[in-house]
Amino acid sequence: MKNESLDRLRSRIIKIDAMPAIPVILRPLLRCLDQPAEQVDMNRIVELVSYDKSIAAQCIRMANSALFARSTPAETVRTAVLSLGMWRVRDLLFSNSLSQVIPTNRWVVDPSVFWRHSLGCALVARRFAEIIGYPDPEKAYLAGLLHDIGVLVNCMVAPEEFKIAIQKAAAEQIPLNEAEQATLGFTHCDSGRILGEAWKIPPDLIDAIELHHDIGDPNRGGPLVAMVHLSDLLCRLRDLGYGYYEPRQVDFANEPGWLYLAMQFPGLADLDMARFTFSLDDYAREVGELVATVFAGRGAA
Ligand SMILES: [Fe+2]
Ligand SMILES: [Fe+2]
Repeated sequence: MKNESLDRLRSRIIKIDAMPAIPVILRPLLRCLDQPAEQVDMNRIVELVSYDKSIAAQCIRMANSALFARSTPAETVRTAVLSLGMWRVRDLLFSNSLSQVIPTNRWVVDPSVFWRHSLGCALVARRFAEIIGYPDPEKAYLAGLLHDIGVLVNCMVAPEEFKIAIQKAAAEQIPLNEAEQATLGFTHCDSGRILGEAWKIPPDLIDAIELHHDIGDPNRGGPLVAMVHLSDLLCRLRDLGYGYYEPRQVDFANEPGWLYLAMQFPGLADLDMARFTFSLDDYAREVGELVATVFAGRGAA
């Protein structure tokens, strides 16, 4: 979207006070995670979990679930966090705090479907990053997790038209951004950039939010945008999309994002695409478990 149109959209969003407030733990969490995995402060993670009673309860419930099969029940947040492992706790923190940024009755998409897609894309982007040797797989994870936050803005700024856009996308089996452009005149990529700027999230993540459907010149957004673009496509083709079928044949090896990554990361040549795609079914299970934990008791799943 051109700068003047973005400015118009920005003032429209601000005027109707539709900008979701940043979740209180998001910035400290991003700060806490913005360092090498071995240096992440576990005490700080325990502290952030403890801020929110419902997240603390979820951690304890998940740590005591059959999946983790502890010999002694986890009764404290600390034991639960240690048992689950930092990255799983991080998933719970992000999905919980972000799912609360708009009121339950303002969701135009099913929030559990939204989080399945976002978490799925995050896991796939991180795996992609690890396989090709991208130096910061956790950054790729975050970019995948946040890539569609513009959807939250659209729920707030134009719920009726956004609902029509979603119905149009499902009925015509087209990408959501195309239906939004036709119905709203802007996409969740545009509104996502505006929200990312308002929340002051790092610029490379904002680029991934804005450019993940149309990467344009790959040099602009770099590898992060290309990875999120491909991960989003993969998820939408493998039952981790927005709950409708997109009948497209994607020749990944000729996708601009793929060609761009292949030039920079020779590791991509070793990726067995068939096996990688197959492994997404495991991610779908993992994501399903997490989303069920987040939405248990909220009646939104
Ligand atoms: Fe998207
Ligand atoms: Fe997406």
